[in-house]
Amino acid sequence: MRALKNILVTGGAGFIGSNFIRYLLKKVGNFNGIIINVDALTYAGNKNNLSDIEEDQRYKFAHGDICDRTFIENLFTKYSIDTVVHYAAESHVDRSIIGPEAFIKTNIMGTFSLIDTARNIWKDRNDVLFHHISTDEVYGSLGETGYFTETTAYDPRSPYSSSKAGSDHLVKSYFHTYGLPLTISNCSNNYGPYQFPEKLIPLMILNILEEKPLPVYGDGKYIRDWLYVEDHNSAVFTIMQKGKAGETYNIGGENEWENIKLLYELIDIVSSKVNKSSNNIRKLITYVKDRPGHDRRYAIDCSKLKLELGWKQTYDFINGLEHTVNWYIENKNWIDSIRSGNYQQWLDKNYINRI
Ligand code: NAD
Ligand code: DAU
Repeated sequence: MRALKNILVTGGAGFIGSNFIRYLLKKVGNFNGIIINVDALTYAGNKNNLSDIEEDQRYKFAHGDICDRTFIENLFTKYSIDTVVHYAAESHVDRSIIGPEAFIKTNIMGTFSLIDTARNIWKDRNDVLFHHISTDEVYGSLGETGYFTETTAYDPRSPYSSSKAGSDHLVKSYFHTYGLPLTISNCSNNYGPYQFPEKLIPLMILNILEEKPLPVYGDGKYIRDWLYVEDHNSAVFTIMQKGKAGETYNIGGENEWENIKLLYELIDIVSSKVNKSSNNIRKLITYVKDRPGHDRRYAIDCSKLKLELGWKQTYDFINGLEHTVNWYIENKNWIDSIRSGNYQQWLDKNYINRI
């Protein structure tokens, strides 16, 4: 089991990264290292995502860009970093279609800046680890059957997924070429508290609450494999402790849903909590223009992670959705803080372009 001490978490002010830091500090009982959260605070980054742990002596925030190599080198030296877990990315497929450049900069160049710094500073140490967070989208699109495994050929189809695929290849090359101790994980769709409400589940929760149109892309029969964010992070932590250097591990929910069926479920859950009529809310469903290059189905085979490292999912999907809906209902201040940026403007533009 690896001892993880001085951990640099990138993108820790975003959805999954902030949940990872909270998981490590609040759920992993004996964690006695330090966490440096480096985040550029883009539209998706929010320091309030971690307001409940700001006072924890084991936690420090460093505002900056992973592409800024001098800044990253200074953090490695100042905090004697021995572990990196790299979440920072531009993460939204629709945004990558409208403006791919930021995805190339952060996801490819930013990853290069980080991993090359790690190689230079760590030299030939083997008591260190670089864990790279990636996505199942690098594998492309499935038909009605079959699953993505760790050996499925890469076939990314959006600027987002190709930028993640590029970074995965680059990271892996540092193991083969330089012997840098590293692991990679490719995960399916996450949901849970603190997810930026441009993504399907939080967007629909907010629109249901406000009785706004519910935009369904294409025929609504696209399939995603949903995993509660804490289950993703417990898998990442398991891999960081026990994963074999140079290996990739798939992480998934084994929980496939057609978008439209998931939306019906969400409508029922939200409506019952705020005394609305599900039938009336269903009338808000609006079929809109499809996402170009929209991947039809994702489904992850995560048996390698389960069998070799002993991980398993712990959240039941309907309970996880209920918990998530409650969180969005109870955290109006957080939603207002998101709205103070140009969130609504972007969303309205995206919607208008689709009708
Ligand atoms: P997010 O968009 O919520 O958060 C990304 C964070 O990275 C933000 O805090 C942002 O400020 C920060 N960031 C962006 N560019 C940066 C830069 N140049 N320098 C420093 N910080 C920067 O994303 P998320 O949904 O939490 O995803 C996190 C990671 O997990 C990404 O690598 C993503 O590809 C991967 N992933 C996401 C999902 C999902 O369902 N959301 C599933 C599988 C994998
Ligand atoms: O599979 C992992 C990936 O999951 C991550 O790598 C990405 O960072 C993350 O954003 C997510 O990508 P998706 O494109 O699958 O997620 P999104 O929430 O944008 O969309 C989920 C599905 O819902 C997809 O089929 C598109 C559809 N959709 C989405 C939105 C925002 C709609 O029908 N209407 C919408 O308004």
